[in-house]
Amino acid sequence: MTDITIALSKGRIFDDTAPLLKAAGIEALDDPESSRKLILDTNRPNVRLVIVRASDVPTYVQYGAADMGIAGKDVLIEHGGAALCQPLDLNIACCRMMVAVPEGFDYESAVRQGARLRIATKYLQTAREHFADKGVHVDLIKLYGSMELAPLVGLADAIVDLVSTGNTLKANNLRAVEEIMPISSRLIINQAALKLKQKTIQPILDAFADAVKQ
Ligand code: ATP
Ligand code: PRP
Repeated sequence: MTDITIALSKGRIFDDTAPLLKAAGIEALDDPESSRKLILDTNRPNVRLVIVRASDVPTYVQYGAADMGIAGKDVLIEHGGAALCQPLDLNIACCRMMVAVPEGFDYESAVRQGARLRIATKYLQTAREHFADKGVHVDLIKLYGSMELAPLVGLADAIVDLVSTGNTLKANNLRAVEEIMPISSRLIINQAALKLKQKTIQPILDAFADAVKQ
């Protein structure tokens, strides 16, 4: 039996993926929230899970350290997608990539007047493309989290970040001014593994596809 390694991040991706894995007959033997293990065995002796940062999942799959993984579209855009096959939108971890500003900031006028905007974000690639398409000049400031803070302390005029319920924006007196794109997570597969391990990977892919349809 061919060995398969699946890369996942803990938290929402692991939680939303567990039912899909179950549909494919795969169950983790440990809970990544309580275990410190980074390699989790499953009920299937030939399938193991590796637990990595969400933004590292495509890298593990790109280099073949994992055969497949699950990553948000946000993460995949920043990674670039090299050596990855993306056969399936799993419709999990759904949210929206948005531009947001402090309540008092007149974003629309600033854009109309051709102002140069300072944008704080973890998503440089996405932000660069969005503002280039709009013809808005921006200085991008790379952050790794808590983007909502940046405009509140004068680090940036606006942020590009993920929004789901809108609670984080609201709690920090920010408002969303533009939707850049809807985001969900995709199954990603190493292109070489898909060819070499097709017999083992295809049934997992099919089970995921069936479970997503329901
Ligand atoms: P990293 O740990 O690498 O910095 P992260 O903290 O963004 O990444 P998670 O918070 O686990 O990782 O998010 C994983 C994925 O879930 C994201 O890449 C995105 O696609 C999606 N996501 C992020 N925030 C939300 C949200 N509030 N609601 C729904 N989905 C979200
Ligand atoms: C994400 C995102 C926002 C928040 C939006 O952060 O970066 O801060 O969710 O969700 P909401 O619209 O439902 O409030 P996350 O919860 O992943 O925290 P982290 O990335 O800072 O770990």
